[in-house]
Amino acid sequence: MKKVKNICCIGAGYVGGPTMAVIARECPHIKVTVVDINAPRIEAWNDEDLTKLPVFEPGLDDIIKEARGRNLFFSTEVDKAIDEAEMIFISVNTPTKTYGKGKGMAADLKYIELCARQIARVSKTNKIVVEKSTLPVRTASAIKSILDNTGNDVQFEILSNPEFLAEGTAVTDLLNPDRVLIGGDNSTKEGVNAIQSLSDIYANWVPDSQILTTNVWSSELSKLTANAFLAQRVSSINAMSEICEQTGADVDEVAKAIGMDSRIGSKFLKASVGFGGSCFQKDILNLVYIAKSYGLEEVADYWEQVVIMNDYQKQRFSDNIVKTLYNTVSGKKITFLGWAFKKDTNDTRESAAIKVADSLLNEQAEIVVYDPKVVEERIYADLDYLGSRTPNENRNLLKTAKDAYKACTNSHGIAVLTEWDEFRTYDWERIYNDMQKPAFIFDGRGILNQSELERIGFVYYKIGSGIG
Ligand code: NAD
Ligand code: UGA
Repeated sequence: MKKVKNICCIGAGYVGGPTMAVIARECPHIKVTVVDINAPRIEAWNDEDLTKLPVFEPGLDDIIKEARGRNLFFSTEVDKAIDEAEMIFISVNTPTKTYGKGKGMAADLKYIELCARQIARVSKTNKIVVEKSTLPVRTASAIKSILDNTGNDVQFEILSNPEFLAEGTAVTDLLNPDRVLIGGDNSTKEGVNAIQSLSDIYANWVPDSQILTTNVWSSELSKLTANAFLAQRVSSINAMSEICEQTGADVDEVAKAIGMDSRIGSKFLKASVGFGGSCFQKDILNLVYIAKSYGLEEVADYWEQVVIMNDYQKQRFSDNIVKTLYNTVSGKKITFLGWAFKKDTNDTRESAAIKVADSLLNEQAEIVVYDPKVVEERIYADLDYLGSRTPNENRNLLKTAKDAYKACTNSHGIAVLTEWDEFRTYDWERIYNDMQKPAFIFDGRGILNQSELERIGFVYYKIGSGIG
């Protein structure tokens, strides 16, 4: 069996960019071309100034520096890359549908279908097509049908190879994955060869024992299942956080106590203002839609509750700010520390901060946002997308600051929305002195030092233990 020497990836986003950069770094003998129709994004991937890469991930700049121009290329020439590649990864976005049947629930597969049609049109030699995007179970059969019926009589093998990286730790996750999952058809010789070709690529740096092969449907469904289980843990601990606040228990102590049970485990038990990110909500809603489409109403309701709980947690956090600030925030300055959906990323998709800001702006709060990595245009775009008020109103009510201390000056309350490490190290005495009194902190991430802040004079609320 011939080793793959030329691969391409359609979609240069948060997954396509870092994933292919790591493959190129670990496999210098393979030419890796990442293509996208978004020309400014490709230009940014090619920027000499590595601080301008479109995705911020710790360690990514070093990998790009090493591989780019050697065997890693970013380009807008999609047809050319497809034509030259033996293996094509599809890593385009699969957002929740915003129209028609399944609106607000099902995954929108239009970008996937466009890729399949383009691959079918361009390919003149046999290709292995790899689903890297997160897809509803059985999508591979739709891709296969398009490829086989509109192609130029070449053979296509479809593999599912979902990505499990988390943003902020993408590089370490890719270099040391818990497992690599490859779903394929092992009932045919071509299927077995395709699975082997992809396994061989990963085997350059991943131990064999961590490369898991399954049938295609198990692989597709495992990705949705993994995200559903992870999100469920966050909603479960967030549900407990409210009971803690009512009873005098501390959610971090409860999480530690249960996490030491090896059957439960300690990860993903940090109570928060709610999970965000482009995938948890989208993938659970997709799972709910799939369950409903098979008539599995109880299964659908079970998983939907994870999202309902998450929405409730965000609303509860903003309601609590209003209630604590004497039932009105109208005209009051509230400082947001953090806008990204988690630390160490510039990604804001579905960030809890967006919904919390929206609720507080409805109450006529004046918000100032400081985030070390998120740019102002992104923050306004997130708010404008909600359509709750005009872009002008958003810009009048919400401002951004490049300096955290300035952001906090004269503030009535500080809300911690992202767990950036630098927030822990601030001179909180200085911040306190420049704030309105009483000075409130609403720690939606439970990261600050409660006793120290209370000693300074702050009224400190922590998610999952309330006001001390
Ligand atoms: P993204 O929006 O950052 O990137 C997708 C890219 O695909 C965009 O740049 C877009 O321009 C490009 N694209 C769309 N259609 C195209 C076409 N026809 N031809 C060429 N380019 C096209 O999305 P992402 O966050 O990288 O996610 C991609 C997929 O990976 C999704 O299915 C997602 O669920 C999954 N996933 C994401 C993460 C994550 O952490 N973001 C992790 C695991 C899996
Ligand atoms: C998640 C999964 O962890 C990845 O395995 C998966 O590949 C990815 O989704 C995807 O499919 O897109 P990601 O969303 O990047 O990764 O980040 P997570 O670390 O999972 O965090 C998601 C959200 O949950 C964040 O808002 C985070 O702050 C929140 N969270 C996480 C908590 O509130 N508490 C926790 O204990 C853990």
